[in-house]
Formats: sequence, C-alpha cells, structure tokens
Amino acid sequence: MKIFLDTAEIEEIKEAYSYGIIDGVTTNPSLIKKSVEKRIANGENIYLKKYIQEILKVAKGTPVSLEVTETSEEGMFKQAQKLYKMFNPKYKNVVIKIPINPTFNGGEEHHFDGLKVIKRLSKLKIPVNCTLIFTPEQALLAAKAGAKYVSPFAGRIDDYIRENGRIKYDKNEYFPAEGFYKRKYLLEDDGVKSGIDLVAQCVAIIAEHELDTEVLAASLRNPRQVRECALEGANIATIPFSVLRELVKHPKTYEGMQKFTRDIVVEYMELLK
Ligand code: E4P
Repeated sequence: MKIFLDTAEIEEIKEAYSYGIIDGVTTNPSLIKKSVEKRIANGENIYLKKYIQEILKVAKGTPVSLEVTETSEEGMFKQAQKLYKMFNPKYKNVVIKIPINPTFNGGEEHHFDGLKVIKRLSKLKIPVNCTLIFTPEQALLAAKAGAKYVSPFAGRIDDYIRENGRIKYDKNEYFPAEGFYKRKYLLEDDGVKSGIDLVAQCVAIIAEHELDTEVLAASLRNPRQVRECALEGANIATIPFSVLRELVKHPKTYEGMQKFTRDIVVEYMELLK
C-alpha cells in the first residue's frame, strides 16, 4: 500500500519525504486555507503559486492532488486545465481533484457535473482524484468515468454514523471497522458500517469489475485505520503528518531499545568501530 501525506504544510512534506516512505501528497481547499492562514498569522507573505511549486518540487516523481473550487462542469473543467497547465509541464506530478458531486445541500443542479468533468479530463489524459466519496456506488461511477484515484472519506463517514446514532465521540478516536452496536442495533449508513467498511467495499467493487482505478483511502485519523486500509487492500492511504508520526511508535519498541543498548558488550563495540 502506498502512503500519501494529507497536508499542504511544506515543512511537514519536506520532513515526511526525508523518511523515504512517502508516495504522494493530497491537498484540499481547507488544508491550503490552514497553511495560508498560518503564514498570515505569523506575519509572513505567501505567494501561493510559488508555495505550490515548492510542494510539487519536494514531491518530485510522486503525485500531488490539487482540487478545483468551481462547481459547474465548465467551471471545474477550466480550473482543472488551468491548474494542470500552470504546474504540470515543469513538475509532471499534478493530479486534479474533482468532487464526485459538486452540489450543495442535495439541490437539483450539477449532480453529474463531477462525472462529466472526470470523463473529459481523462480523455485528455489528465489524471483525476475523485474526492468526497461516501458510498461504494459513487466510487464505481467515478471509476467508470475514468478517475485514476477514488477517495473514500473514512473518518467523515465514521463521524456521520456516530452523529446519526447520537454517539459522543472524539474525531481521532478509533471507530471499529466492523461497526458499532447501540442497544443491539448496528449503526450504519445504507449498508456501510464504518469508514474502513466503505474503503473495503470500494476496493471489492473496483477489483471485481477490473476497473483501472486506485482506491485512495482518505480522511484517516489514527494508525489503526491505516493498518486496516492495508489489510483491506486499499492501494493508497493518505494521512496527516500527525498520524504518520504515530505509525512507528510502541512502548515495547522503546523498552527493547533500552535493553539492547544496555547489553552492548565491549567486544561488540570494538567490532563496530
Ligand atoms: C484527502 O484527500 C481529504 O481531503 C482529506 O483526507 C479529508 O480529511 P478530513 O476528513 O480529516 O478533513
């Protein structure tokens, strides 16, 4: 399973790439907002075009998702082409993020505009990451339209299931992959029991129908979800820097390190000089 970094923070990207295990970056307007506002609060100037160029440079050879902000077919198509033309000729690692359904409040407009744009962009060989996937059937449609990646939002569907079940929760708290029973009733969203279950169903559908799309598990909030994504066969997990840092930790590892260090004999030290 590939691991992407879910951030627009250049320092986090540089640090994470130095570990040698990062395969890409995903951004979204909220992550960009966080980075811009952080710099403004620090009294720094931010020239966003240059800032994004730096991200693409650090991530050289690995894909970086940049999201459109328009919601109509033409608007998204124009922005996608603009982003791609602006950055890809030099860096060659731009992926355009398109929402599966750019409609607000479930209104009647634009429901299929995301899919239409994905189809048009894939005909132009512009790689698309289809975002805001909350059902396996949305993933199926995005894959059929030609998306290179589909991004099921595991953490946010867990939030939704918990909120609908009136469960108090902390965002980073683990939600069981197999679902949660409240007074003998399994909480679910139309047959989706958890974020990991959503990822697993997307993986199964893409594999069953031999679609040329990778499942990019997104909105992951803790290390156990990363493990479960790997077990379920997700192609990619995109994770915040804080979750990446947690992945290597265990108290018994530290304890083992202390014991091994205490036990180094002089002869062994001499050998390794
Ligand atoms: C990634 O592509 C998504 O934009 C991101 O994972 C969303 O994560 P969040 O639900 O923690 O905001």
